[in-house]
Amino acid sequence: MIINNKTDLEGMIQVSEAVAITLKKMQEYARAGMSTKELDDYGGEVLATFGARSAPYLVYRFPGHTCISINNEICHGIPSSDRIIQKGDLLNIDVSAELNGYWSDNGGSIIVEEDVHEKKHLIDTSIAILRNAITGIHSGVKINEIGGIIEAEARRNGYKVVKNLGGHGIGRGLHEQPDAILNYKDRLDKRRFRKDMVVAIETFITTKSTWAVEQSDGFTMLGDKGGFAVQHEHTIVVTDSLPIILTEKNGILA
Ligand code: CO
Ligand code: CO
Repeated sequence: MIINNKTDLEGMIQVSEAVAITLKKMQEYARAGMSTKELDDYGGEVLATFGARSAPYLVYRFPGHTCISINNEICHGIPSSDRIIQKGDLLNIDVSAELNGYWSDNGGSIIVEEDVHEKKHLIDTSIAILRNAITGIHSGVKINEIGGIIEAEARRNGYKVVKNLGGHGIGRGLHEQPDAILNYKDRLDKRRFRKDMVVAIETFITTKSTWAVEQSDGFTMLGDKGGFAVQHEHTIVVTDSLPIILTEKNGILA
């Protein structure tokens, strides 16, 4: 969406706070030995305290409040009482929701308790990439320039990007134009960011895979070549200088 007035901005601030605080609290609540269903139920309770409704449930009838994806799962992991979180897991939680007709989206990967798989550098790289990508966005910047930043920094650090996932416009719906804000530079993409545009910017950084493949459950996306995958996401408003980070309270860039 393009923010046209104060009501729009206030609506986006409210829903963004709901998803940001929910993500932060879920990251703090996650423990080894807990099922992803328990973690998701907790997230559902936090969202409800804001009066916010799960976006993946509303849009896709996703079987959960939030997407919880572990290790080689890139995104859209389904919360399950059979899936027990292990020490050292790379745990990605993605929280998106609707409140009063406004939609916001954010996500983040963390290491559970102890860095068993020695993946702190992968997480830190994804966070640094998101920070640099967001910092590079202002009105007039070409959308593919941001993909170029993400891909170059991933490669420089010895990682890959997922080519078939990316950020998206958001605001009056979960996915709006401009869609496909990719993690690499698509030279055919001539689009530019505009002032007051609301977009979700997200990284998909991996150790091996470059393509996300949907599984038979209809949701979970796995990497085509295995390895580990992480994601970090903020919803922002484009301005003439630095963006407003609407989901800042999730603390993922802190
Ligand atoms: Co998103
Ligand atoms: Co998301």
